[in-house]
Amino acid sequence: MKGLKFDFSNLFRENVNTGVTSEEVNAFQENVSKIIDEILEENPGFIKVPFTRKWIDRVTDLKSWIQSFESVVVLGIGGSALGNLALQNALNPLNYNSMDSKKRNLPKIFIVDNVDPDLVSSVLDQINPATTLFNVISKSGTTAEAMSNYLIARGILESYGLKPQENILFTTDPENGILRKIALDEGFKTLEIPPEVGGRFSVLTPVGLVSAIAGNIDIIDLFNGAKDMYERVTVKNIMENPAALNAVIHYILNSKGFSMSVMMPYSNRLFLLADWYRQLWAESLGKEVNLKGEKINAGQTPIKALGATDQHSQVQLYNEGPYDKVFTFLKLEKFQRDITIPKIHGEFDELSYLGGAKLSELLNNELDGTEYAITQHNRPNMKVIFPEINAYNVGQFFYVYEFTTAIMGKLLEIDAYNQPGVELGKKVTYALMGRKGYEEMAKKVNETKDNKKKVII
Ligand code: PA5
Repeated sequence: MKGLKFDFSNLFRENVNTGVTSEEVNAFQENVSKIIDEILEENPGFIKVPFTRKWIDRVTDLKSWIQSFESVVVLGIGGSALGNLALQNALNPLNYNSMDSKKRNLPKIFIVDNVDPDLVSSVLDQINPATTLFNVISKSGTTAEAMSNYLIARGILESYGLKPQENILFTTDPENGILRKIALDEGFKTLEIPPEVGGRFSVLTPVGLVSAIAGNIDIIDLFNGAKDMYERVTVKNIMENPAALNAVIHYILNSKGFSMSVMMPYSNRLFLLADWYRQLWAESLGKEVNLKGEKINAGQTPIKALGATDQHSQVQLYNEGPYDKVFTFLKLEKFQRDITIPKIHGEFDELSYLGGAKLSELLNNELDGTEYAITQHNRPNMKVIFPEINAYNVGQFFYVYEFTTAIMGKLLEIDAYNQPGVELGKKVTYALMGRKGYEEMAKKVNETKDNKKKVII
């Protein structure tokens, strides 16, 4: 079969005594059929994205302009950045930016998803503003982090006497928000983020596609992978549907106290997919109230770990700590590059077994070792298997997890597409930064700060 494979064996009671039974899973069959119908009927924005040629065409029209720059700097945060990071990390060489520019023959790509002045300064140190395209991405067009980085980029361009319209591309809502207004008033190039697609579900819209095309990622194959995955995740039979089976088992385990979901790629290139997953799972499913308005405090805490690195950091806890984690390993069958370990020190048993082996063999045997140990310790675990890393398989990954999240949201009976829990912190920041209209909030926050018990040592 082309594309991703899913190995759910170690989530079942026969292999792990804390796992689920087939009966428990099958009890969800009727509900899952209904849920799939409901999702297709409600048609949340992300569903049809891979079937929309418009985004590919629009970005392809700009391809030669985008690639004419020496650097492309994405300014965005959350759903407006994490997909870009995952795509670049997975599909371009890990040393992409430091490659010889003639060999790369494409822009350097930086994704600035924070307002840490050390980070922003370090990126600015590496670019020439005159030959840089700043892709400001913000669906709302108001997010403080993306906006402040936009203002910095624009300020620098202006200080160089450059016309910002020539070096800035806005990716934002087609109608609303201040970025759209600025673009209309001042003639900036723009791309649209479809209003019906939530930020964390938007990687396959122009949000992720500009930096993808800047780095020559095959966006058509990315879409093909997602489209083919649609066929698999809309199958009604739970046992044949990777999104449904994944969601149902995570739901059952979560309700039994497995309140954490660890995603552990055994591949550095796949590592940032776990970061993208972390946002999707956390922001979509972590909700105070259900659809009836009842307080349920739902959610499962997503955690990322890297194999083999975190075997020497986290795995002690994973094997012997509390029974509160379900594991998803990402396994890569065929690495793009490989290294044979030289046969040196054949006289020492401690080293001779390594000589002649490939690093890929060592890494995947480490995965087998961790999987075996975790299973022996009765920790439920599964594997998503990438035959290789290519745009098609990465497109599959995005889509299967978006659909899994949609099903999980339905099982939890929550709204998976909002994020009310991030609002308060945002508003307080506005207030503390002196934004007009937030004076009352600033007063309240300062009073609360003054009056609270302080334990500072
Ligand atoms: O998933 C989401 O909706 C959020 O994480 C947003 O992507 C994030 O807050 C950035 O928002 P915006 O694109 O409006 O700047």
